Amino acid sequence: MKALTYRGPSTVKVAEKPDPRIEHPNDVVLRVTRTAICGSDLHLYHGLVPDTRVGATFGHEFAGVVEEVGPGVQSLAKGDRIIVPFNISCGTCFFCARGLTSCCDNSNPSNDLVGGAFGYSHTTGGYDGGQAELVRVPYADVGPMKIPADMHEEDVLFLTDILPTGYQAAEMGDIAEGETVVVFGAGPVGLMAAKSAWLQGAGRVIVVDELEYRLELARTWAKVETINFTEHGKAGVVQYLKDITEGRRGPDVAIDAVGCEASGSFLQRALGMSMLQAGAATALMWAIQSVRRGGNVVAIGVYGPPWNLVPIGEAMNKGLTIRAAQCNVKRYLPHLLEHIRAGRVDPKGIISHRFALEDAPEAYRIFASKRDNCTKCVLIPQAA
Ligand SMILES: NC(=O)c1ccc[n+]([C@@H]2O[C@H](COP(=O)([O-])OP(=O)(O)OC[C@H]3O[C@@H](n4cnc5c(N)ncnc54)[C@H](O)[C@@H]3O)[C@@H](O)[C@H]2O)c1
Ligand SMILES: [Zn+2]
Ligand SMILES: [Zn+2]
Repeated sequence: MKALTYRGPSTVKVAEKPDPRIEHPNDVVLRVTRTAICGSDLHLYHGLVPDTRVGATFGHEFAGVVEEVGPGVQSLAKGDRIIVPFNISCGTCFFCARGLTSCCDNSNPSNDLVGGAFGYSHTTGGYDGGQAELVRVPYADVGPMKIPADMHEEDVLFLTDILPTGYQAAEMGDIAEGETVVVFGAGPVGLMAAKSAWLQGAGRVIVVDELEYRLELARTWAKVETINFTEHGKAGVVQYLKDITEGRRGPDVAIDAVGCEASGSFLQRALGMSMLQAGAATALMWAIQSVRRGGNVVAIGVYGPPWNLVPIGEAMNKGLTIRAAQCNVKRYLPHLLEHIRAGRVDPKGIISHRFALEDAPEAYRIFASKRDNCTKCVLIPQAA
């Protein structure tokens, strides 16, 4: 089969690889019909995720048609169209039993940091991902959801990750009716978090980024107020947020949907990103600094190593509640499918580019450099 393969920082190639096989009775092999590139893939692409091995196939947002079924699989048959959450979860361990499928104890047993995930380095189990013609899906009775017969795979593709991730971010923000929510990052995850904040009762939603074309999408697709932080000087965005939320000195809830590759930090510019091996926690800092006292901060952007200068003293003195997670995708699927059906959210509306799998290296270059107004790339390995 053809698959995207990692070659080293900022280099990926589409190459021939052996077809995946059924390795366990509960596996299926999926013929991939749609797969997206996530902001999380950029951390891999840039070589920031430990134990990302040469030859690994990325891709944790995918839909496809079941091609081969392991003898133990009960709920799927050859020919079923499914989407697959990015988490690989056993469904039965302590964590899975509590809906914490991102923390599964069995899918990544060598590591007590995080459960298994598709296409996300040996740190999350070394599973090959779906940016390929075929992918092996373990625990096939647990994660996948059948695509309703009347729906296109692009209608539900983003249920694999970014929509539940944004939704869980808003939920962890514990938004009370009418509260003000600021979302840092107008990437796919930030956009989904902003939309979810409305669905969960926010009275005002503000999205912060530096890319004007993405802020434009935030205004039109998510119907939010926007702030371009480059217009507010060095960390001036924090003061500006306090100024426009008079009476409370800051939004009630602040969501970091940027993660470790944030820009805008004075220190980062002074030292250079490579000096700060953990990346820059600028968005998380801004979230902690701008939120009102007693407010809620949510870190949904991805972070790795710990030395990233997060202002924990400020968080402590302001009495903040800080929550963070890799999304537990599975538990949100039925509820979010209803929102999509009812037209309250149209996740595919943020797709800016579609490419054949062969052109994946170009898709990565465009998405990574935010060229050509790129917000979300979908790869099409095989026709449905
Ligand atoms: N927790 C999870 O389960 C989960 C799931 C999916 C993605 N993620 C993470 O969420 C983050 C966002 O993903 P994405 O797909 O939207 O990525 P993306 O790279 O497309 O978007 C990030 C956006 O943040 C903006 N940005 C950079 N610095 C900023 C700053 N200081 N303030 C405000 N905005 C800033 C960028 O301009 C960009 O538009 C990534 O870290 C990704 O790994 C987490
Ligand atoms: Zn992702
Ligand atoms: Zn489990």
